[in-house]
Amino acid sequence: MLKTHTCGELRPEHTGQAVTLAGWVHTQRNQGGLIFIDLRDRWGLTQITIDQAATPAVHEAASDVRNEYVIQVQGIVHPRPAGMVNANLPTGAIEVQATALTVLNPARVPPFYINRDEKVDEALRMKYRYMDLRRQHMQRNIVLRHRVIKYIRDYLDAQGFVEIETPILFKTTPEGARDYLVPSRVHPGKFYALPQSPQQLKQLLMVAGYERYFQIARCFRDEDQRGDRQPEFTQLDMEMSFVEREDVLNLVEDLMTGIVEEVSDRQLLTRPFPRLLQRDAMEKYGSDKPDMRYDLAWADISAVATRSSFGVFQSAVKDGGKVKALRVPGGAAGLNNSQLRKLVEELEALAKENGAKGLSWLALAGEAGGEVRGTMAKFFPEELQAELFGLLGTEAGDLVLFLAGPAQALYPVQDALRRNLAERLELTDPAQIAFAWIIDFPLFEWNEDEHRWDPSHHLFTSPMPEDIPLLDTDPGQARGQQYDLCCNGYEIAGGSIRIHQREIQEKIFGLIGLDVEVARERFGHMLEAFEYGTPPHGGIAPGIDRLVMLLAGEPNIREVIAFPKTQQAADLMAGAPSEAEPGQLHDLHIRVVEKQ
Ligand code: AMO
Repeated sequence: MLKTHTCGELRPEHTGQAVTLAGWVHTQRNQGGLIFIDLRDRWGLTQITIDQAATPAVHEAASDVRNEYVIQVQGIVHPRPAGMVNANLPTGAIEVQATALTVLNPARVPPFYINRDEKVDEALRMKYRYMDLRRQHMQRNIVLRHRVIKYIRDYLDAQGFVEIETPILFKTTPEGARDYLVPSRVHPGKFYALPQSPQQLKQLLMVAGYERYFQIARCFRDEDQRGDRQPEFTQLDMEMSFVEREDVLNLVEDLMTGIVEEVSDRQLLTRPFPRLLQRDAMEKYGSDKPDMRYDLAWADISAVATRSSFGVFQSAVKDGGKVKALRVPGGAAGLNNSQLRKLVEELEALAKENGAKGLSWLALAGEAGGEVRGTMAKFFPEELQAELFGLLGTEAGDLVLFLAGPAQALYPVQDALRRNLAERLELTDPAQIAFAWIIDFPLFEWNEDEHRWDPSHHLFTSPMPEDIPLLDTDPGQARGQQYDLCCNGYEIAGGSIRIHQREIQEKIFGLIGLDVEVARERFGHMLEAFEYGTPPHGGIAPGIDRLVMLLAGEPNIREVIAFPKTQQAADLMAGAPSEAEPGQLHDLHIRVVEKQ
């Protein structure tokens, strides 16, 4: 090794030892007779001192080094002089007095500061990702990711799971996104599809008798990018045989709890994880991935609202819609009239952006018995107000927001207002982690454009046993044995108990309008496998990127992926995607047609 110790390792007990360190120059301060270098590697920083009087040749070499040079230093460990100890640094009580210094590799001026934790243009970070990854917060994230994955592997191994790799060059495994296709050279005109998940293969591994499988699996989905989406991402893919929903939920809950408590420095708020029926989550939070770090739940107040004199509420309910109210604790406290008006104007603009016709409100005075302000005050006589406030459990200083309309149309508005208010009230502490299970999803969603049912999870999710007859009579009412895990407002995992009988699988294909011939062509291997002794089975797939993002307190998953793609699905460092050589295209039987 070109080093005897790491840059994070030396302590006062090493005093007097001759050591060799190697790493990157974090900072260099030339104070004439003395040069100080903070030498950095993945483990930390160590201060190197070079004394001109004692080691003139080393001093000369050190005066030429610049930030990010890779150097090797030999020297003796000394305690720092009194008053020079840096309590913020684990190695801050010592320094290494250099006796030799070798430049192993010089460095050009970096495109941005590596030694400062400041905001850098993201395109620049992506182009020079290898420099960006040197920065302390990125190293912390990448190491955290490693530890999470290691914890997962150890945990599942102890639970009898086997890690099995499945192919990347495969056939379409639809999860609702567009496939990435790879042309075949050997089979002209044919294509492999990159897996959107290993869904079919893990089910086939259950048919194959492995009973407990997992994989840290790369998945590929050609869909619009967002902060929590990448075209290729990583799942912890799991499948188990002879299990019921309860078994999967309990195992994952235990695993997630262990990760948060033993690997991260976050505080786990909810244990056991609350379980919400999907319909209730939508009604209360307008989302099936509600942030449970705070309450802020909407209440259905249709019955009270129709007794007010506000025509909009009455007609909304008459047309089959709902009136919903959100109590914002302390939302009006300390605000004067103009501040309050500004707040509700901003909230109303947000509501309208999300499809609402308007937003009504009431604000309770800071002290009991004070005046009630707001657009709804005149429409709710005092007695009705009291009834409403009793229903909502309001207190002095609260703000109450009202929405009216068709239930489905209110969901995105409820969600947006809830998230926005949580930010304003500072209820979203990234140091806190709150999981919740969402269960009892409808099996299908009606696709108005295509006039058919779409699976709300995927094709292989089993209906609730008691809902199987509904497949023939009223498919929209059938619930699937699907479960999602959400965390801090993100969907972190999705899974289900699967169909393991051919007849039911074929019935689902029929309902989603998949022609039997097409289904056989695409999934014939699955249908056939189901005839050779298939155990009841189920599984789940937590997204590793999203999980690590939340554990690291980062705002997007690019911060926890070593080499992510941009929002335009490009790699700016290597310049991918790029044109192919004409010869390659010829071999692949492909001709590129210029876009008109
Ligand atoms: P699903 O499609 O719900 O389920 O995906 C599971 C989890 O994967 C993560 N995820 C993503 N992360 C980053 N970028 C993306 N583009 C992306 N898409 C999904 C999310 C999500 O919760 N085969 C099923 C699992 C199963 O049924 O066992 C599946 O893939 O965290």
